[in-house]
Amino acid sequence: MIAHLRAAGASLVLDARGPYPPVVLHWGGDLGDLTEAELTDLAEAATPPVPPSAVDQPLRLTLLPTPGQGWTGRPGIAGHWAGRPGDGRPGAGRPVDDLRLHTVGRTGPRDLVIECGPAAGGLRVTTDVSLSEQGVLRVRHQVRNTAEVDLHLTAADVVLPVPEQADEVLDFTGLWAHERRPQRGRMRDGTWTRQTRHGRPGHDDPYLMVAGTAGFGFRHGQVWAVHLAWSGDKQLYAERQATGHSLLGAGELLAPGEMILPPDSIYTTPWTVAVCSDAGLDGLSERLHGWIRARRPLRGPRPVVLNTWEAVYFDHDLDRLTRLVDAAAQVGVERFVLDDGWFTGRVDDRRALGDWSVDPQRWPAGLGPLVDRVRSRGMDFGLWVEPEMVSPDSDLARAHPDWLLGPTHAPTWRYQRVLDLDNPDAYRYLRERLGALLDTYPIAYLKWDHNRDLLAAGGAHRQTTALYRLLADLRVTHPDLEIESCASGGGRIDLGIGELVDRFWTSDTNDPLDRQRILRWTSVLMPLEYLGGHLGAGTAHVTGRATDLGFRLATALFGHAGIEWDLTAATDAERADVAGWIAAYRRLRPLLHTGTLVRTDSPDPARQLYGVVDADRSAGVFALVALDAARSALPVPLRLAGLDPQRRYRVSPLRIGPAPATLQVRPPAWLQRGEAVLPGRVLAEIGLPAPLLHPQQAALFTAGAVG
Ligand code: DGJ
Repeated sequence: MIAHLRAAGASLVLDARGPYPPVVLHWGGDLGDLTEAELTDLAEAATPPVPPSAVDQPLRLTLLPTPGQGWTGRPGIAGHWAGRPGDGRPGAGRPVDDLRLHTVGRTGPRDLVIECGPAAGGLRVTTDVSLSEQGVLRVRHQVRNTAEVDLHLTAADVVLPVPEQADEVLDFTGLWAHERRPQRGRMRDGTWTRQTRHGRPGHDDPYLMVAGTAGFGFRHGQVWAVHLAWSGDKQLYAERQATGHSLLGAGELLAPGEMILPPDSIYTTPWTVAVCSDAGLDGLSERLHGWIRARRPLRGPRPVVLNTWEAVYFDHDLDRLTRLVDAAAQVGVERFVLDDGWFTGRVDDRRALGDWSVDPQRWPAGLGPLVDRVRSRGMDFGLWVEPEMVSPDSDLARAHPDWLLGPTHAPTWRYQRVLDLDNPDAYRYLRERLGALLDTYPIAYLKWDHNRDLLAAGGAHRQTTALYRLLADLRVTHPDLEIESCASGGGRIDLGIGELVDRFWTSDTNDPLDRQRILRWTSVLMPLEYLGGHLGAGTAHVTGRATDLGFRLATALFGHAGIEWDLTAATDAERADVAGWIAAYRRLRPLLHTGTLVRTDSPDPARQLYGVVDADRSAGVFALVALDAARSALPVPLRLAGLDPQRRYRVSPLRIGPAPATLQVRPPAWLQRGEAVLPGRVLAEIGLPAPLLHPQQAALFTAGAVG
């Protein structure tokens, strides 16, 4: 069979005629309607020549490349059966290599299931390939050991070809409070591999591996990308062979001995989510956001959150928190979240994780009085937990040292160890404790934290699987509960846990300058409404940098908005501005949380221009951000992307809180008038002169279709 899957301007053509696993003939722009005969012609025409000093048949990259197919690049599947050849057991000591296509079938209009295995048997790989209506491709393998000896698997990756013009690679790295720093380079012969061994994606998570045409940007260039929907160890890679084959690969990073499959058992890989576009990174985001939104629709408008962490830290005092509740209600907060510090003995970050009952010292009447106050002021109540962790100084660790994961000599991290969720007793304990809390208090939301790497060789797979089971279990028993994935900020943002949570804590830095950069890149994959962005104090706790309220408000507008600030210490004028910002957020959130994200490629790295345009392109909201001093006296114009070229729009400044600080003898004429009315094409091509913003300022604009 030659299968052609098409959706939303994307085509995937798979040559599944054998003898080896299917070959992707095309993954890219839509090829239009092709008859079976045309597909066969295409497959014939795509058969490459045989070069000298090479295998004597056309070498093609399959979905599961192995040396037995003539492939000398990184194999897509690797492992061996236990024992030594000739030890009397059939298959013992044999490597996984000779994969043949057995069957291929359609399970839906854009869904295929492919079965492969060695001619000599011992293994069956079932590959699911599915193209969503948004053009997002998902692929995963299920590997079944059909031999009579254990199969030691070391890799089962999804490998997709990219064309030769994809010669630039983008992926991400980062640090605590500086997640998703982009890094780019030329695609060279060899393999560029990013591995994470944190037992969570980590702050340096590669996140997406993107290959594209030279100089691709947000709005231009052909791009192909892969992401692994998995929260444990993983690898993403881009490879180019001297043969001319280029590819992107993704798979779980399996430690030696981590994946031993006894006879008749199955390993299912995480889904690789792959996406391509002719319209740069914004094109990738449009497909991904559309797909994520359709797959995981949110349960109503994203409420404005107040999280207590940077307001009170561990100082849990009912009177103080009651004042904060009242201040939050006064400005229009919709969800009040009690962060770390509420459980028995948790007076600082050195103790008590695991002892998940309310601290009788600081909460003598339990959390009830606070919860009641929150709810009586019209907000719902959220609670911080870090279920996968245990402090060595805790009743739990003292009672059950055997429930801890990893070697006892391994260093602690933030004075904590990891609870082995794969241990049924530990799992049951945690499930019971969380259930008791959720049944005792009307908790609408859990902020689920994870503040250390596992550092447990070979333990990440089972821990991640057990975590997913626990989250799924809680969602069944508490279907209205929302959960936020937090890992010292944005250390666990992926589409694996994304199936089970409703929000991500994007970063521990609430400094708007950092947040601008972090949000720009995190939102390439995740829609804004999943990404928590909080208004912090005037001087950011994590960086010590002071920024204006206007800049902080404009920054925290884009995302699932919240507050991380002791509002009781704010002035009346500041609180009034915060109330105005919340009112604007509530008015704009239907647009911000369903619209198309557009980011302009700026020749000046000190200027960012981005916005959200609604589905029918009748309205948009844009932010011009001055990260630093502009590179020229007259800054680059505001070129508003994403609008309908044929329609006319009224563009006006949107004032939320204090006006951005500028240094201009005279503002641009259109801003003096207060608006400009121009066709979308003119706004995108020529743009409007930008105001001369001071560094660390943001100006907001709205665009509304006229007539
Ligand atoms: C790390 C999180 O990212 C913070 O927001 C806060 O919840 C602390 N943990 C609490 O310990």
